[in-house]
Amino acid sequence: PRRILSGIQASGALHLGNYLGALKRFVALQDEAPLFVFVADLHAITVWQDPAVLTAQTREIAAAYIASGLDPDKAVIFPQSAVPQHAELAWVFNCVARLGWLDRMTQFKEKSGKHKERASVGLYTYPVLQAADILLYKATEVPVGEDQKQHLELTRDIAAKFNTDFGRPGYFPLPEPVIQGPATRVMSLRDGAAKMSKSDPSDQSRINLTDDADAIVAKVRKAKTDPEPLPETVEGLDGRPEAKNLVAIYAALSDSTAAEVIARFGGQGFGAFKPALAELAVEALAPVTAEMRRLMADPAEIDRALAKGAEQARAIAEVTVAEVKDIVGFWRAP
Ligand code: TYM
Repeated sequence: PRRILSGIQASGALHLGNYLGALKRFVALQDEAPLFVFVADLHAITVWQDPAVLTAQTREIAAAYIASGLDPDKAVIFPQSAVPQHAELAWVFNCVARLGWLDRMTQFKEKSGKHKERASVGLYTYPVLQAADILLYKATEVPVGEDQKQHLELTRDIAAKFNTDFGRPGYFPLPEPVIQGPATRVMSLRDGAAKMSKSDPSDQSRINLTDDADAIVAKVRKAKTDPEPLPETVEGLDGRPEAKNLVAIYAALSDSTAAEVIARFGGQGFGAFKPALAELAVEALAPVTAEMRRLMADPAEIDRALAKGAEQARAIAEVTVAEVKDIVGFWRAP
């Protein structure tokens, strides 16, 4: 049976990349199959988080899920730390995954920077916890942005090795990464070679889900571009990363393709395209932002959704961990 799962880290403000690469796509999937979306607070603390900020950010991500259109009566929305089985299964997977596999993870190399001996041990085993998040629910599909591809390959490796080591072919399904649509890798507005990211020190590089209309308009107007008008064909975007990025954002926001955007704006300059893009972005994001603000003003509704989701998630997680304990040979009270 299909089961769809994904998560967003509770660290830093959400931006347009998270919205187009993840949030907006979750909403489209909630009617297709059971959908589990969680707030990855265990992952967040792999780098220092102020405790009060972490709590607020957990609620903010839950608010973003609901404000984007996820219905807590359909999707199971929960904080990762409220389901202790994530950490429990991650330990077993720490003993399945190999050091050599983790040594290849590019995200650890990027995040740990020059002084990897000062990174937390959690940052290193981060992808093992991610595998536990996914396999705990025996998820078959994981919608994510392009940057998570390597972590999903590791998840599949862990599932396969567990199944082989314990002689249980097919016990864990090998989940499919679902990396689709025009905006699987939204780039920085300041640098077409860098990913739009929470950790970019320049706020001008990204559109945050909390930005108001004026901020969005200003950021799009100042977005880096080249001096040429938009090309007449999609192929003409090759070698023009900034133009390509803005076209991809327009396509994703308008549920169309880059070809359709080019059919409409090809030959026009950025003086015409940027205001159209800004207007579209404001139109798409303003209702989400407003609903997030409303939800955050009184977190009771968010807290109720998270508590209910955690209970539903735990019911499934408990079954998997009981099975895993038997498979591994841990003693259980008869
Ligand atoms: P995180 O919190 O960094 O990002 C959340 C989601 O947003 C996507 N994303 C982007 N998509 C397009 N363009 C961008 N510039 C961009 N930046 C981020 C990410 O690909 C992701 O889908 N490790 C995960 C969280 C996680 C998870 C999981 C995901 C933990 N456990 C299990 C799936 C399944 C992360 O850090 O995402």
